[in-house]
Amino acid sequence: MGEVVVAISGASGAIYGKRLLEILDEKNIPSRLVVTSAGELTLKHECGITKEELAKQTNSILEDEGNVGGKSASGSSKIDAVVICPCSGTTIGKIAAGISDNLVTRSAIVAMKERRKLIIVPREAPYATVHLENMTKLSSWNTIIIPASPGFYNHPETIDDLIDFIIARILDHIGIDNEIGKRWTGDEI
Ligand SMILES: Cc1cc2nc3c(=O)[nH]c(=O)nc-3n(C[C@H](O)[C@H](O)[C@H](O)COP(=O)(O)O)c2cc1C
Repeated sequence: MGEVVVAISGASGAIYGKRLLEILDEKNIPSRLVVTSAGELTLKHECGITKEELAKQTNSILEDEGNVGGKSASGSSKIDAVVICPCSGTTIGKIAAGISDNLVTRSAIVAMKERRKLIIVPREAPYATVHLENMTKLSSWNTIIIPASPGFYNHPETIDDLIDFIIARILDHIGIDNEIGKRWTGDEI
């Protein structure tokens, strides 16, 4: 398959992006990493690593947020999916308004115009109406919205279980086979 672009923006939950990159690496799926400047803060604060360290640990190609000409935003490159994980309300708003002012928003808009898979993992609580309206717009334009809201029906025991719940949904939507976490069989209740 082609590359997967993983963007980490400044919403809380950088660990979701980190875990997604780890799984892609385990599966030998090539990835590119773009981290916004706010995302750099949350990545460092919440996971204790820099974007450079994360890229190195996960064999991901690090791109510069300021370089709107980066490969992640190339319409002709073989990129199968763009996943903004986690996705801030700011980045959601910019994409919904068609603003592509950095490599994350540009990659998202290119994904939409090229009809590539665009997945966003929003996190905010509560959502403002503007967030909800923007997500409705994006959803109606085929963006997959996977909120950072793990389910509890599989009886998670660790934080890793909760994170993997979301990662499994992302992988399913990209079309990557995975057995991360338990799948509901229908016989549980
Ligand atoms: C510690 C911290 C946690 C944050 N958590 C969230 C969040 O969960 N959701 C959100 O939309 N913004 C959150 N923000 C605010 C964003 O980082 C801010 O809106 C920023 O402008 C987003 O820019 P970006 O979309 O370019 O990354 C947080 C900021 C900090 C410093």
